[in-house]
Amino acid sequence: MIISLTGFMGAGKSSVAPIIAEILGFSFYDLDQLIEEREGLTVQDIFSRYGEEWFREAESRTLLSIMEKGSSGEIGSRDAIISDIVLSLGGGTLIRPSNRTILKEGSFCVYLRARPETIAVRVLAGGQNRPLLRQKDNTDLIDKIRGMLNEREEGYLESSSLVIDTDCLTVEECAEKIADTFRLSLL
Ligand code: S3P
Repeated sequence: MIISLTGFMGAGKSSVAPIIAEILGFSFYDLDQLIEEREGLTVQDIFSRYGEEWFREAESRTLLSIMEKGSSGEIGSRDAIISDIVLSLGGGTLIRPSNRTILKEGSFCVYLRARPETIAVRVLAGGQNRPLLRQKDNTDLIDKIRGMLNEREEGYLESSSLVIDTDCLTVEECAEKIADTFRLSLL
């Protein structure tokens, strides 16, 4: 079984996913980390050397391979059996319709929703390491986030079985809600 977490940069995907994994006894994987391991480059280096399209190709390839492993229960090198996975996606993974289909059909996909103002605060607190949000000054950061979010939100909603509004929740509260709803979905 695979639980995937989607949502905009700064929505909390990479912080919430390992807590859900711990609660449920699943393995945790972060798609950006897997891409970095496979390509031997950081996400930032991939963007600056090869550009966004190259990154999207690597992202889709990596997603496909982890989804195949998850659904087949293949013996992995990091874990005995990696059939039960919590996977945090990148904020742009669902731009591609093919990725939306894969995740909708092959995982319990959760959209971690946050308001643009909340995202801006979290992104700035995280030390601005997102190539797509890097800019000279941050005065129009919220507008930029709002614009990108408008373009992407339909994809997030279309793929998800559950939407969690994260603005007023701690990462632990988000994780507990998701783990509880997932358990109920199995009954
Ligand atoms: C991206 C989000 C990033 C990372 C890359 C592109 C995006 O992941 O995949 O910088 O297009 O929204 P996070 O959402 O984990 O920051």
